[in-house]
Amino acid sequence: MFNEERHFEQPIRWAMVGGGRGSQIGYSHRNAATRDGLFKLVAGAFDLDPQRCRDFGENLGVDGNRCYASYKEMFEQEAQREDGIQAVSIATPNSTHYEICKAALEANLHVVCEKPITFTTEEAEELKLIAAERNRVIGVMYGYTGFPMVQQAREMVKRGDLGEIRVVNMQFAHGFHNEEYEKNDPGLKWRVSPEVSGPTYVLGDIGTHAFYLSEVMTGLEIDRLACMRQSFIESRAPLEDNAHIMMQFKGGAVGTLWASAVNAGSMHQQKIRIVGSKASIEWWDEYPNQLRYEVQGEAPRVLERGMGYLYQDAEGVASNRVGGGHAEGYFESWANLYHRFAMAFDAANRDDQAALADIWFPGIDAGIEGVRLCEKCVESADQGAAWVEYK
Ligand SMILES: NC(=O)c1ccc[n+]([C@@H]2O[C@H](COP(=O)([O-])OP(=O)(O)OC[C@H]3O[C@@H](n4cnc5c(N)ncnc54)[C@H](O)[C@@H]3O)[C@@H](O)[C@H]2O)c1
Repeated sequence: MFNEERHFEQPIRWAMVGGGRGSQIGYSHRNAATRDGLFKLVAGAFDLDPQRCRDFGENLGVDGNRCYASYKEMFEQEAQREDGIQAVSIATPNSTHYEICKAALEANLHVVCEKPITFTTEEAEELKLIAAERNRVIGVMYGYTGFPMVQQAREMVKRGDLGEIRVVNMQFAHGFHNEEYEKNDPGLKWRVSPEVSGPTYVLGDIGTHAFYLSEVMTGLEIDRLACMRQSFIESRAPLEDNAHIMMQFKGGAVGTLWASAVNAGSMHQQKIRIVGSKASIEWWDEYPNQLRYEVQGEAPRVLERGMGYLYQDAEGVASNRVGGGHAEGYFESWANLYHRFAMAFDAANRDDQAALADIWFPGIDAGIEGVRLCEKCVESADQGAAWVEYK
């Protein structure tokens, strides 16, 4: 059970870069980080506009003197204080992640960063190195992986309940951008601008979520892939609003991933189906408390969160906040991850490397693989959907 019981004396002094008033994802970070009392928001460079940053920060209860005009100023000023920040979350558009992450690590802060963490794998590898040198932790906000039923799926694959894994079907295909809404939506405009979004749109924005879910559930590594991508709204080119990937995994399994923002009529349609030689499982983020379990020749079953028949002793399966039958959701999943980030930051502060290694959370390696997926997809698509080696 995850709850607000204290794990250490004082909450981690925490700040945000980005996530200002009206941003899409800022509230999710604040809600998740503060849910269990493990983080306290004490400073921020929430917004590109300094006045709006201050107004918003004060409204959230942050001291106006600790609402900064830029992340650089924040890291400098906070380092001078005895009660300065210990960790920061970065929820700005993609093009800024690398430089802000790097500056945060160099200021000896633990980091939670949004995905895609950088534009290139080299940049992400560099962040990994800096973090290791300074004994700092980077969490990457693949927010769907905090769901207990995702962890149950992982455990079922690990224990061989499905037999040998043959096929992994992944998709995150919503319909919200089936027209050129970016004309009036700044949050979409930067997503379809290469200089801010990076080398991809839907692949990095949502495809990496489904991909990381499948990585967590199966542990499979891609051997090679082929990708085709399109811009159905032509003005979005070269960035894609629809993409299909075919994958061959090491060991013989195969997979597909469909990422789309033009799946008209669809909400999320983020689904992971894992097909083994004996049975299949399927998880859907719109019904996150359930996991379909289909054994060949038997009636299909729907496993429910919080029930005794799950692998309760496996990492994350019992991270319930309320008993089964109640609907836990997106915010609980995020809070579960922030709970783990806090434990990881604390373990690193105590230099307890064994404890740190024992805490499961999406870290820098998850970030690196998300960036690599985008890079390899572009490489393949640019050659007419040619097969390319993954590493
Ligand atoms: N993990 C998820 O499920 C998820 C969901 C949505 C967005 N995201 C990611 O979160 C990030 C932010 O996305 P969003 O949709 O909230 O963007 P947004 O455009 O809605 O908000 C961005 C915020 O960052 C601020 N900002 C921009 N540059 C800044 C800077 N240099 N310093 C300080 N503040 C700055 C803006 O003023 C704004 O408040 C993106 O990387 C996106 O991919 C992740």
